[in-house]
Amino acid sequence: MNNALILQLRELVTADMSPKRARHTLAVEQMAARLAALYCPEKEQMLRVAALLHDVTKEWSTECHAAFLKEHGITPTAMDLAAPKTLHAKTAALLIPEQYSEYADGEVISAVRYHTTGREDMTLCEQIVYLADYIDDSRTFPDCVTLRNAFWGADPENMTQEQREAHLLRVLVQSFDLTIAGLIEDGAPVSADTFLARNSLILKLKIEK
Ligand SMILES: [Fe+2]
Ligand SMILES: [Fe+2]
Repeated sequence: MNNALILQLRELVTADMSPKRARHTLAVEQMAARLAALYCPEKEQMLRVAALLHDVTKEWSTECHAAFLKEHGITPTAMDLAAPKTLHAKTAALLIPEQYSEYADGEVISAVRYHTTGREDMTLCEQIVYLADYIDDSRTFPDCVTLRNAFWGADPENMTQEQREAHLLRVLVQSFDLTIAGLIEDGAPVSADTFLARNSLILKLKIEK
């Protein structure tokens, strides 16, 4: 992965998106790069690529997601159809090796695959793309503002590495709490992966204490 390839990808993905989706995608890339600088500078380029690709199928219709999954031998679950917003993470992860093969790194694909629901024992890259998607600077939804302030307001740049790692886990738990509370309030189903993600982060925090 190099800067020229990233520039090419940035132009390619944003050309096919609505202006709103393109703005969000570029803001997630910026936030992922800021988080990479704090947690894993060596993964910055890979995280930029994952951010650029994370919503590449977000504007497809539910029928289009279902047809694409079917072509890949996957039957959408009742949960997928009840929460169609989560489908784009599955279809984007499948599309990357086919349409963006030079970017089809395993870490990129898993960060894209789990950026909506999270999962048990998330990797650092999955955590960063998940959080960058939640707190990117283009978001004005109250929960996003709350979480962005919770993350940056604690001044993570001036923490020790250990404090900074625990801070990331705590903010992620808070993000899952907000997501789960919002879904409950809407009477919407909550993905099992989201509960597993939250539980495993809490257990990790307790073990590391
Ligand atoms: Fe998304
Ligand atoms: Fe997104």
